[in-house]
Amino acid sequence: MAERILVTSALPYANGAVHLGHAVEYIQTDIYVRFLRSCGQDVVYFCADDTHGTPIEINAAKQGIPPEQFVARFHDEHQRDFRDFDIRFDYFHSTNSPENRHYAELIYGRLKDAGDIDRRDIEQTYCEKDKRFLPDRFIRGTCPNCRSTDQYGDACEKCGKTYNPTDLIDPKCALCGTPPVRRNSVHLFFKLSRHADFLQEVLKRPGFIHPGLAAQLQGFFEKGLADWDISRDGPYFGFAIPGETDKFFYVWLDAPIGYIATTEKWAKESGRAPDALAYWGKDAPTRIIHFIGKDIVYFHALFWPAVLNVAGFHIPNEIKVHGHLTVNGEKMSKSRGTMVAARDYLDLLDPSYLRYFYAANLGAGVEDLDLNLKDFRLRVNGELVNNVGNLANRALSLLAGPLEKKLAPGRAEGAGRKLVEDALARVPEVREAFEKLEYRNAIRIITEIASTANAFLQTAAPWALVKKDAEAARADLSDAADVAYLLGALLAPVTPRVSEKLFAQLGAEPLTFQALATAKYPLLDRTRPLGTPEPLLPRLEEERVNAIIKVPAGTPAAEPAKAGGKDKKTEKKPVEVKTPEAAPTPQASPGAGPAEGAPAADIEYADFAKVVLKAGRIVAAEKVMGADKLLKLDVDLGEGTPRTIVSGIAEAYAPEAVAGRRVVVVANLKPRKLKGIESRGMLLTAGSGGKDLSLLDPGDVPPGADVK
Ligand code: 2FM
Ligand code: ZN
Repeated sequence: MAERILVTSALPYANGAVHLGHAVEYIQTDIYVRFLRSCGQDVVYFCADDTHGTPIEINAAKQGIPPEQFVARFHDEHQRDFRDFDIRFDYFHSTNSPENRHYAELIYGRLKDAGDIDRRDIEQTYCEKDKRFLPDRFIRGTCPNCRSTDQYGDACEKCGKTYNPTDLIDPKCALCGTPPVRRNSVHLFFKLSRHADFLQEVLKRPGFIHPGLAAQLQGFFEKGLADWDISRDGPYFGFAIPGETDKFFYVWLDAPIGYIATTEKWAKESGRAPDALAYWGKDAPTRIIHFIGKDIVYFHALFWPAVLNVAGFHIPNEIKVHGHLTVNGEKMSKSRGTMVAARDYLDLLDPSYLRYFYAANLGAGVEDLDLNLKDFRLRVNGELVNNVGNLANRALSLLAGPLEKKLAPGRAEGAGRKLVEDALARVPEVREAFEKLEYRNAIRIITEIASTANAFLQTAAPWALVKKDAEAARADLSDAADVAYLLGALLAPVTPRVSEKLFAQLGAEPLTFQALATAKYPLLDRTRPLGTPEPLLPRLEEERVNAIIKVPAGTPAAEPAKAGGKDKKTEKKPVEVKTPEAAPTPQASPGAGPAEGAPAADIEYADFAKVVLKAGRIVAAEKVMGADKLLKLDVDLGEGTPRTIVSGIAEAYAPEAVAGRRVVVVANLKPRKLKGIESRGMLLTAGSGGKDLSLLDPGDVPPGADVK
């Protein structure tokens, strides 16, 4: 039987809005699922709301509504947000469902039968006024380490120290302020410690998890795997544990079981499988892939496979872990307004922009992804709108206007045919990049294909040719349209609605990776009429992008005025073009400008003309060991071999953020050594330096183009 693939994203808590941090994971997973589907794979994608636990129970109580009603509201809201971000689950269920209760009870029963459940009397913090045990997050007090007041029971936000709630000085119940007491209670434990050998073996399976993470998880085995407390005392919002009084499954026991429950619900509703066991049965011919954030690796890579194995279920084949989102280089924060709700983004911007930007920055590793708003705007405008969008628009508007929507037949030879064939030859690289979750490589290749096609049009100049030889122009434009069609297919997993628009404008069927595996020139059915061209996406405007960050009223300005700061009227300086390198030579800094305040000396045009400026494209970037400010770049200047340039932009740009970008390069600078590396040129940037640097983008021109 052919392999069937089941993909999940982590279940969001039904306790708040989905934000752009969550979106990293859903977008990453959705791209992968769309890609697999485009390759012709049998794949289903599931998610659900994670509904149980103390915080949800308490928030519902605060609002005076039953927890079921509280979580139902988020169920609708979350589904709308996902839909509008073009995240297409095959089913979005809830952990507070009959299917989940069924599987939670079944699995627990099997753990018990296997002798894997232990009863232990443990001492915990209890509030006599609220009549409840208090999770660490519901105890506040003074940090035993740095004496900061009003800290949580598990860790101090000021000094970062972790401790037990019993260590807190002057502890108080976070709900009512009463000092808590210690009280004993019987808890149920899953004997995780018995499964260390099994888990060690699973962690070594090829593809199960990134080897770096597998190595990190070894730390747990070295310390000795602790058994896992799976029960909580009431009041608690969760499933009552069969055979116990006032004991509930801990939220993290039934949350991943939600993956199985969702499969069951989908199977029954769609009729596409008899039940969840068609996927989750021990020997089912399925590949199960979980996408998760780095903070919940422990649950998915240790507890979950052990529980599934004891209970006789299929264990996950792959766990794909991503890093967290930072905004403008900092952790997201409610008070700075950078924890942007999905809906607030959608009210202002098309989801394609963010999907593109995330893809352009995502690799297979767990490093954090930075949503730098300036970078976001420049990159999306430079690559998606100007490069890809312009190619489509340039080709289609001439074809649709003077050439009456008719394509030319494919050609036997020539530059246009070569253009399409060269682009097709790159499809396996793009496919491999998607398969390996190296989306940023896929995007780099896609933008390279678009740049090459734009350069082809630039040389062919069909807008001039059409007046002299309409058929020659039609042939060139048809080949460019073929490349646009290919780009539509390659970008479809990332920006599905852009691709749909493009296919409609080309008057063509959607093109898939499966079809591309055997596709040959010409790609478009050249006998079909084109549709009507229109711009694929408008440019991102700075004001609109910045508006996604809404600092809550009453929050002090994020950036206090610097001491000795300038008076408001003089604050606005013209954009400075400066060299980021450590000590630029005079001719290296055409616009470095005079010392602040001093008037610039006028120069002759001949002085300026000595500087050779070229458009380039960064093909590779890496950090320079021992130099925080420097990146080592390979820059394509259309010379055949890329040049090595060492540039002081590392505080403003991560290496993965610059790969593929177009830049302006001072090309006739004497080579010089920086940190032992010979640098052959210099990049132009705007901004005051350090983090405030922006690479100049020459726009839609091929590498090597003159900048004057
Ligand atoms: O960390 C979280 O947001 C959890 N709600 C994720 C649960 S994923 C799965 F195990 F259910
Ligand atoms: Zn209390």
